[in-house]
Amino acid sequence: MRVTSAEFLVSAGQAEQFPRGQEPEIAFSGRSNVGKSSLINRLVNRRRLAHTSGTPGRTRTVNFYRIDGRYLFADLPGYGFAKVARSVKESWWALVERYLAERKTLRGVVHLVDARHEPTVDDRDLQEFLREVALPSLIVLTKADKVGRGARAATRSRAAEVLGLVDPDPLLFVSAETGEGMAELWKALLERLRMPPRVAGQL
Ligand code: GTP
Ligand code: MG
Repeated sequence: MRVTSAEFLVSAGQAEQFPRGQEPEIAFSGRSNVGKSSLINRLVNRRRLAHTSGTPGRTRTVNFYRIDGRYLFADLPGYGFAKVARSVKESWWALVERYLAERKTLRGVVHLVDARHEPTVDDRDLQEFLREVALPSLIVLTKADKVGRGARAATRSRAAEVLGLVDPDPLLFVSAETGEGMAELWKALLERLRMPPRVAGQL
């Protein structure tokens, strides 16, 4: 997919700041430092649209981007970063939970898991929550450039097992570094973006 325009819209620290348009939206969620912002940049072929950082926990707000004037991407704050104070974690989750449960235009979530590490309890919790709110998710294993081809099958099965998935096949290896998996990911995203909105949303 060739993206012709990608623009930053808003960095929302509260639900009242979420964009109010009707464009179908995809959210990117995962642990701090897993590569959410880098993946968004790679998908839209912009090096510095979403801010990336070697310091985990940098993105604390929901950052919205408009793609080709007709889709939105939402970069969610990363979880599982120990150095963040409990009060900050609670306000983070309150915002993300509300976003995932109630965002009307949201069509699906890309759940990023670092291919080099097993998914964590937080990752399991996110999967469970997405199932509860009936939000389709696509799990991608990031930083695939760091995992040798020979280790791929075992990595994928193990991640599926830890996340409680029956079928490991849909887990997609991606790399913001090499561009691996981008064509497949775009294909899946476009399918999701064409789906009708859910009816339960309130935001
Ligand atoms: P937070 O906003 O803090 O939650 O992090 P994030 O998930 O947005 O991660 P970000 O994209 O900022 O990337 C974190 C670090 O991982 C940076 O140092 C990136 O350069 C590195 N990184 C991201 N994607 C890849 C990848 O595909 N391969 C490799 N080798 N490194 C990557
Ligand atoms: Mg980020």
